[in-house]
Amino acid sequence: MLDISLTDLQHALQNTQRSELRHEGNELVNTSTPDAGAAAPAIAAERVARLADVRLDWRHKAVPATANGTTHRDFLADGPTLGDFQTPLLTLDSAAMRSNADHLAGWCAEHNVLLAPHGKTTMAPQLWAEQLDRGAWGITVANFAQLRVAREFGVRRLQLANSLTDPHAIDWVASVIGPEQTILSWVDSTGTVEVLNRTLEASGSGAVLDVLVELGGLGGRTGARGVDAALEVARAVAVSPHLRLAGVSGYEGSLAHTADVEALGAVRGYLGQMRQLHEQLLADGLYGADQIILTAGGSAYFDDVVDVLSPCISSAVQLMIRSGAYIIHDDGFYRGISPFSRHGSQPFRAGMHGWARVVSQPEPGLAILDAGKRDLPVDEGLPRPQLIGPALGGAMVPLEGAEITAVNDQHCFMTFDAGTSTVRPGDVVRLGLSHPCTAFDKWTLIPVLADADGNQAVVDLVHTFF
Ligand SMILES: Cc1ncc(COP(=O)(O)O)c(C=O)c1O
Repeated sequence: MLDISLTDLQHALQNTQRSELRHEGNELVNTSTPDAGAAAPAIAAERVARLADVRLDWRHKAVPATANGTTHRDFLADGPTLGDFQTPLLTLDSAAMRSNADHLAGWCAEHNVLLAPHGKTTMAPQLWAEQLDRGAWGITVANFAQLRVAREFGVRRLQLANSLTDPHAIDWVASVIGPEQTILSWVDSTGTVEVLNRTLEASGSGAVLDVLVELGGLGGRTGARGVDAALEVARAVAVSPHLRLAGVSGYEGSLAHTADVEALGAVRGYLGQMRQLHEQLLADGLYGADQIILTAGGSAYFDDVVDVLSPCISSAVQLMIRSGAYIIHDDGFYRGISPFSRHGSQPFRAGMHGWARVVSQPEPGLAILDAGKRDLPVDEGLPRPQLIGPALGGAMVPLEGAEITAVNDQHCFMTFDAGTSTVRPGDVVRLGLSHPCTAFDKWTLIPVLADADGNQAVVDLVHTFF
């Protein structure tokens, strides 16, 4: 039986037809459906499940020596606990991650915004699947290598939060987009548009890439500097036979790093310019795609993104945030800046911890731990000692007043009050961490505890692909 819906036919046409948009009253209305493969699964669950077949060995530094050669599945079937592992170690907290994922998914639904979590935070398809299961639109990635990982795990909708300027990457994207694979990318200059045009023309594939024009800000990272410059890029896209303008993108997180009045003013001013750009593109009829996407928003200012840009939402215009760090959250930078911390609503929970052992206690009040910058993130604040105990997986007590003062490749320096705390070689310290993005990349496999503050059963192992 031929089972082709109207939507499927529209998908099949997506690379050959330019979509039509028309105004009905104040509403912009779709006349075609560009989104590839709405009927296909958001991620290939069976490929994610196959990670349980991976054989654990010395290549994964988190794996206990006694587990060498067993599969992920068999290892978990034996009911491991934190005490079966060694230090240094990074662990995840299942209860916290689940709560964070539910919390933002619910918030997005309530505010009528799409979530395309930035996948570069974890590069863990198992966690991407959790996000997609909760209704995420798709996964955002930062570069070609990450696109390939996501494609390998069958992520149907992808957004490259960057410009494609490498001809190999452009050819690859042109070759994989289709009815079951959406890939959006960004353009921020007419030079980028030229590279895309030239490469796509030479390939002769006939592919039409969906691109978003990226607005930047002075002192920021990528992005056309100012609305006029972005409009010029949009005009270059509009006349390209190889590109279709599908929206406006930006990243407010590269313009601010705090939540003081000045920083929030800069963020909101920039978002206002994104809105102005979008309205001008509509007025000038420069959009080529049927579904328009406005996208901004990491984990620090997504409330402002939604506040400033949600008036643009219509049946043809969707607002998409790209928070990535939120699912793991932390005990440092994100705990301080998250809108859910700042506004006193239910805060996200720290979903990762470091565990390090005292290898030396060479001077009064100084301990050297066996975790360094190869193991734990340090770029957004040093780890913070939280608890201490005689063994990993055993009872621990708060370690008040201790501080990590320096970090080497494989060690960290912990000062403590020798008058009130006892710290001996072999003791284990639990560390609160800052910045999930630079924690995950240090581990190929991360054990997941049921609850870092309670049941320390290891309920899963998360594989990363950096
Ligand atoms: C372009 C872009 N979008 C979204 C994000 C996600 O932000 P966060 O890590 O705060 O969740 C990042 C993070 O660096 C980013 O660079």
